[in-house]
Amino acid sequence: MNSLVQDGRKAAERVGLKSDTIVINGGRPLRGTIDVRGAKNLVTKAMVASLLGDTTSTLRDVPDISDVHVVASLLEIHGVKITGSAATGVLQLDPANVASAKSAEIDALSGSSRIPILFCGPLLHRLGHAFIPDLGGCRIGDRPIDFHLDALRAFGAVVDKLPSGINITAPNGLRGANIELPYPSVGATEQVLLTGVRAMGTTELKNAAIEPEIMDLIAVLQKMGAIISVEPNRTILIEGVESLEGYNHRALFDRNEAASWASAALATGGSIFTTGAKQSEMMTFLNVFRKIGGAFDIEEEGIRFYHPGGDLKPVVIETDVHPGFMTDWQQPLIVALTQAHGTSIVHETVYENRFGFVDALVKMGANVEVHKDGLADPNRRVPRRPLEQAAVITGPTKLHGAELEVPDLRGGFSHLIAALTADGRSSVSNVGLIARGYGDFVGKLEKLGADFYFAE
Ligand code: EPZ
Repeated sequence: MNSLVQDGRKAAERVGLKSDTIVINGGRPLRGTIDVRGAKNLVTKAMVASLLGDTTSTLRDVPDISDVHVVASLLEIHGVKITGSAATGVLQLDPANVASAKSAEIDALSGSSRIPILFCGPLLHRLGHAFIPDLGGCRIGDRPIDFHLDALRAFGAVVDKLPSGINITAPNGLRGANIELPYPSVGATEQVLLTGVRAMGTTELKNAAIEPEIMDLIAVLQKMGAIISVEPNRTILIEGVESLEGYNHRALFDRNEAASWASAALATGGSIFTTGAKQSEMMTFLNVFRKIGGAFDIEEEGIRFYHPGGDLKPVVIETDVHPGFMTDWQQPLIVALTQAHGTSIVHETVYENRFGFVDALVKMGANVEVHKDGLADPNRRVPRRPLEQAAVITGPTKLHGAELEVPDLRGGFSHLIAALTADGRSSVSNVGLIARGYGDFVGKLEKLGADFYFAE
């Protein structure tokens, strides 16, 4: 069994999926209402932040996804007592007895999430050392951790790379630092926040990421007693404090999940009300959705995304850091673009390998060409970047059913949408990987009237 399938199986088990393959009879519009809970990319970090408090933290709107189960297990092996459950959406995290975990226990969870790297700062503050196993996460490029390690060194940590993982100590404690990131990395910014809040003195972080999930993490840390200010020009100032309390927080909604279901509504010609979604964090997505010919109603309780009839139009997109168009939004949207009349271009500038999923779309009849070195286009808003790839999608093309294997979280959701859009039957295997980040996606598909069943 390859490691991708292993990861998928483990994720499926964690959330209790019946099997790792579903069979979909496509061609039906998805219609109905679904709940969007807290963002995977905030909830998992807020859970780690609980390690920094002296008292219990309460996190609400937690999604029942495999990544939450992994982080909960990692916290538990480090002595955090967790009550409540992802199923009910509320977790209490009590860090009173934080202790070192055995490396074998950490190893057992390694390969399934990249979150362990964010345990470093809190564990260094609590215990004086941290061990980080091999990092997993989606296979969407090399996804290095050099910015994280450089930031930790700037705080005074000593980093030893071992064959089994990374051992980090802080023999002289952690001191505030001046750090400038080479790129506004989400994870590295979180690393600096989670380490700087209790480092001695002031930390200045330049070229920080300012994604809404980062702002929500700052809100969590402020509730805990941290002093953090977001200055103009991507600069964050942190004044270290001696101690932090637990927090009580309702997580920011998952804008990636909302955009994914919005793309499913558009591709299948349906209408989906995403309860909990909010306009302000999705403005960039909403503009593009409208330009393609999708429609939306913004209501107090959420956003309805629908296909209003008529032809969909092509669009040119460049993925970028916030407030640009998120890299996580492009995969689901590309499926809808296979149904637009004309040629769309998606420039991926954040990751070096995030178009692997389009092979499956091509197999289903889509016309998508990937240019691994990007396209030379004089009308670009941003200069071409080293990581860039481009996908050129020409539509509309009828999609037909096929056998698909989920390659990663967002690519996997795109496969689901493609199977739901296609005429005929598709079988989608390794759906456990989708459970890494989409809470109750099976129950939601049922609610939206999808015709599918689990393969034996
Ligand atoms: C977060 O990944 C998200 N993951 C990703 O979502 C999301 O796509 C990404 O941010 C961008 O918004 C989580 O929050 C768990 P980065 P992260 O550090 O923090 C390079 C999903 O599907 N880089 O901003 O890992 C890196 O290779 C996932 O939900 C370095 O070179 O992203 C990439 O090209 C996938 N060295 C770029 O920066 C480093 O040390 C952006 O990565 C760190 C990053």
